[in-house]
Amino acid sequence: MRGQINNYLPIAKTSALPVDSIVEGANYSLEGDGKRLRPIMTWIMGVKEFGLAESAIVPLLKSLEYMHTASLIFDDLPSQDNANFRRGNPTLHEVHNVAVAELTGLFLTQKAIEEQTRLNQFDSTVVLELIQYTAKVTADMCKGQVMDLDAKGKQLSLKELNQMCFYKTGIGFEASLVIPSILAKAGDVEVAAWKKFAYHAGIAFQIKDDLLDVEGDQCVIGKPIGNDADHDKSTYVSVLGVEGAKKEMWDHYCIALELLEEISPKNPFLKHFLHYIVNRDH
Ligand code: IPE
Ligand code: IPE
Ligand code: MG
Ligand code: MG
Ligand code: MG
Repeated sequence: MRGQINNYLPIAKTSALPVDSIVEGANYSLEGDGKRLRPIMTWIMGVKEFGLAESAIVPLLKSLEYMHTASLIFDDLPSQDNANFRRGNPTLHEVHNVAVAELTGLFLTQKAIEEQTRLNQFDSTVVLELIQYTAKVTADMCKGQVMDLDAKGKQLSLKELNQMCFYKTGIGFEASLVIPSILAKAGDVEVAAWKKFAYHAGIAFQIKDDLLDVEGDQCVIGKPIGNDADHDKSTYVSVLGVEGAKKEMWDHYCIALELLEEISPKNPFLKHFLHYIVNRDH
């Protein structure tokens, strides 16, 4: 599925512009060893859980990866995490400059919405609901990123850390899971159950990300190691220590697994996905 998504992602240049640094920048940031976890989740939910046609949801798969990639471009800027590597390549602001990186991030968030308007095999009211939801998600992620920056040098409580993690990472994770249920017109009770699963899976994912920043291999993860400690960030590792963070990650993994057995006992894909989140090396 990852290979398939990689084929969908490249953005075509406008023939009228001989030099188009923004499209080049967007394609540069989309390339590399991105795991495509969000569109993969959407594919699992859309195709395997709700029986939607893959061809009908391709614009959605693209849109989620565009939004996520934009969030990474912004996250790496000198004003935020100041990271010089991403997906195995120098960050966009390093190869171009901060202005091109900022504008490319904005460009990709708009491309994400443009793609959503191409979901022409679904009712327009449902597509409008979807656009409203994802626009709100993007806005909430901005708030999460500010919380993350404000928490620099502070000792957060676990409750505060979970809230920050939910806004910066969890909400985007939730959206990738829940959007197909909007298209499939699933009921409120079912959607609420999926959101609960996404909450715990999202925290497990971010804890693993925080652990990889300490224990990962830079050549494998494709982004700088030790960046969190260098910038005095509040992470699950800084708050709970490596062992405490691991225990917390496995707790959320177990809760998510139990929820999955209740909601969708016959769909093995998410079980494997959950397993991958906590065992991955990048
Ligand atoms: C990294 O996301 C940013 C976080 C939310 C922790 P991923 O680990 O999914 O990054 P890519 O897309 O594979 O590069
Ligand atoms: C990033 O979290 C969250 C978003 C991009 C919204 P991190 O700052 O921990 O992600 P990495 O470690 O740079 O990928
Ligand atoms: Mg960050
Ligand atoms: Mg970062
Ligand atoms: Mg990180």
